[in-house]
Amino acid sequence: MRHGSILLVALALGCERRAPPSADPPAATVVVPSSPAAEPAPGPPLDASVPGPSTSTSARPRPAPERPPAAPSALLGGLPRPAGASHAGFAGPVDPSKDATWLARLASAPISEVTRNPGGATITLRVRFSDGSRAVFKPEQKHSASNFRGEIAAFHLDRIVGFARTAAVAGRTIGYPHLLEHLEASEADPKFIERVREEVPARDGRVAGAMIAWHAGRLVSAEPPKGWTDGLRSKEPPSEPLVKRLPEWSDLVVFDFLIDNTDRWSGGNVLSLGGGALIFLDNASSFAPWRASRGETTIARLSPICRFRRATVTALRALGPEAAASARLGARLASTLSADPLAPVLSPGQVAAVDVRVERLLDHVKRCEAELGEELALSL
Ligand SMILES: Nc1ncnc2c1ncn2[C@@H]1O[C@H](COP(=O)(O)OP(=O)(O)O)[C@@H](O)[C@H]1O
Ligand SMILES: [Mg+2]
Repeated sequence: MRHGSILLVALALGCERRAPPSADPPAATVVVPSSPAAEPAPGPPLDASVPGPSTSTSARPRPAPERPPAAPSALLGGLPRPAGASHAGFAGPVDPSKDATWLARLASAPISEVTRNPGGATITLRVRFSDGSRAVFKPEQKHSASNFRGEIAAFHLDRIVGFARTAAVAGRTIGYPHLLEHLEASEADPKFIERVREEVPARDGRVAGAMIAWHAGRLVSAEPPKGWTDGLRSKEPPSEPLVKRLPEWSDLVVFDFLIDNTDRWSGGNVLSLGGGALIFLDNASSFAPWRASRGETTIARLSPICRFRRATVTALRALGPEAAASARLGARLASTLSADPLAPVLSPGQVAAVDVRVERLLDHVKRCEAELGEELALSL
């Protein structure tokens, strides 16, 4: 689809009437077969745009929206997608055909409300756009492992490999005083506002961060039971209740290895939509620059598992060391990330580390094929 058409669609959706609060939200995060060769047309109004209950009980007026930034036209014209027919199958619950509409909105829709996002260990904020749709804003922050650039890069990687399990993410800045005005208007706990002042840095009076599309639907824990990795190692068939989730958990470990996520298993970060498909949510503890420069990986999480989805491995082989330089995962990531509003998202060293991780992962898969036999190792 051409840029102009995408923007028109985005504007039209922005004017759409909001569903009444009692109406069932239209399915936002459904599995949509997606062909990487032909970009599907944008779908119906976004699921995630269904307004939830108001997050504000403010008696104070909210500030008027800032002048929004321009839409990221290069990104909308070159979405992160698999290069060819080999991809992980877009088996996730997120509908990638909505990415262009979402990215236009995340990067450039006027913001009408910012409130504290309760829960979670890091500073995260809830954003409502003037069309009623919602997002989470993860700002840059000093004292935690929260790396907003990791969220942006993880989204691009998700779509290039073809998982379809992360929400769309775009970089964005918000004026610092404007952000504080919003928090004060929402009557956020003064201690929280103090924390924001101390931990969120300003650059040229603005706060940089990752704007993440809101997942419609209830998030339900999908933590595996103790000993779950046995089902991804042994030659014995895994026990019945585990069978359904094994391909998703296997993909999750692969995804986390690729993004170098160090915080999936500390609790609360293995989630499904309403008990259904797994999503990859909370990817901010990834792509740490210092880990890339020291060659650190999450190999300890990968080593215990030896069974993978064939589609995922095929996709990674097409992005791995055998591929042409421009077709490798690092190059493809660098290419689409260069169009994010906050580019550069990854340094050349971080991009090179991605390719090293793909290679190490594929080496591990080879060892597993030798151990279990190709048929079983790639049987998910
Ligand atoms: N895109 C999203 N859609 C819906 N809920 C979200 C989204 N992102 C975060 N949340 C909610 O906010 C909580 C905290 O966000 P998370 O990304 O896990 O940050 P933290 O690093 O603070 O744990 C999540 O557990 C989830 O309940
Ligand atoms: Mg979390």
